[in-house]
Amino acid sequence: MASNDLKSTARAMVAPGKGILAADESFPTIKKRFDSIDVESTEENRRAYRELLFTTAGVEAHISGVITFDETLRHAAADGTPFPRLLSDAGIIPGVKVDSGAKPLAGYPDEKITEGLDGLRDRLAEYRDLGARFTKWRAVIKIGHGIPTGFCIDANAHALARYAALSQEAGLVPIVEPEVLMDGDHSIERCEKFTEATLSHVFFQLLAHRVALDEMVLKPSMVIAGKDCPEQASIAEVAQATVRCLLRTVPAAVPGIVFLSGGQSAKLATQHLNAMNALGDHPWELSFSYGRALQEEALKAWKGDSANVGTAQDAFLHRSRCVSAARYGEYTEAMEAA
Ligand code: 13P
Repeated sequence: MASNDLKSTARAMVAPGKGILAADESFPTIKKRFDSIDVESTEENRRAYRELLFTTAGVEAHISGVITFDETLRHAAADGTPFPRLLSDAGIIPGVKVDSGAKPLAGYPDEKITEGLDGLRDRLAEYRDLGARFTKWRAVIKIGHGIPTGFCIDANAHALARYAALSQEAGLVPIVEPEVLMDGDHSIERCEKFTEATLSHVFFQLLAHRVALDEMVLKPSMVIAGKDCPEQASIAEVAQATVRCLLRTVPAAVPGIVFLSGGQSAKLATQHLNAMNALGDHPWELSFSYGRALQEEALKAWKGDSANVGTAQDAFLHRSRCVSAARYGEYTEAMEAA
């Protein structure tokens, strides 16, 4: 795989006006999402729901790529078209989550380490054969009493870098996702401090592992107060703190930064991205790779009933259009009513 291909794939993933749909919920996570609409998490329901998202007409104007889960990458639409081909034919780049989840970090109560490095080289080769062109690995950093520890940040940064190097070796663009969780009552200042520490360790390890920064995409969380913090920052404050933190830690060689939504509502995640892009030019594209924020309205409209597919697709297209406008700082409240 010529490295030029990885560069152009990374750039295409953050093309102007476009961002990534995270539809890579693991079995326990998709069960949680389906429980919220009283739908059983059967293989067919998961397949049908992903088909609904992937076949939404017009969404390719706003969505550059989709992160799938192992099972989904092997699934096909009702007409037999494998999902990776269905997406590529629509001009959407297929990707896949390759970590096997965040597990308790031994010796460090309440902290987690992401697993999945064993056998990863072989799995990456298979994913590439199945049609994936990029991958994702998520590390989780929790803020609480006495945490995160430097050790937890370092262990996760090291694993992220090992994954990213293997992914590039396999001809797949890595999405490097260090998520600082919104869980807790911490202030936005503590979030900024630990996000800055996390990102600087991550880039130190990426460079040490000889990862090409122009052939990857960063997926961070926004700098935001914990969801139980009584003092929530304004949209403008979140935008300023997030961009300031990224400018201090993310080299300009990285083509794009795609945020996770992390439990923010669809509208707030749209407003935050919009405010960041309205701040002016940045050295990288500032885009989205939302899971819940892109899907929650569609999921509620679908309710597991095939009669609701059209309404659910309308909801997904609507949110994609809003978030796409936020890529230019052009999202307005009036778009919600449209
Ligand atoms: P959320 O936008 O729901 O946080 O999901 C993004 C993601 O891929 C988390 O790993």
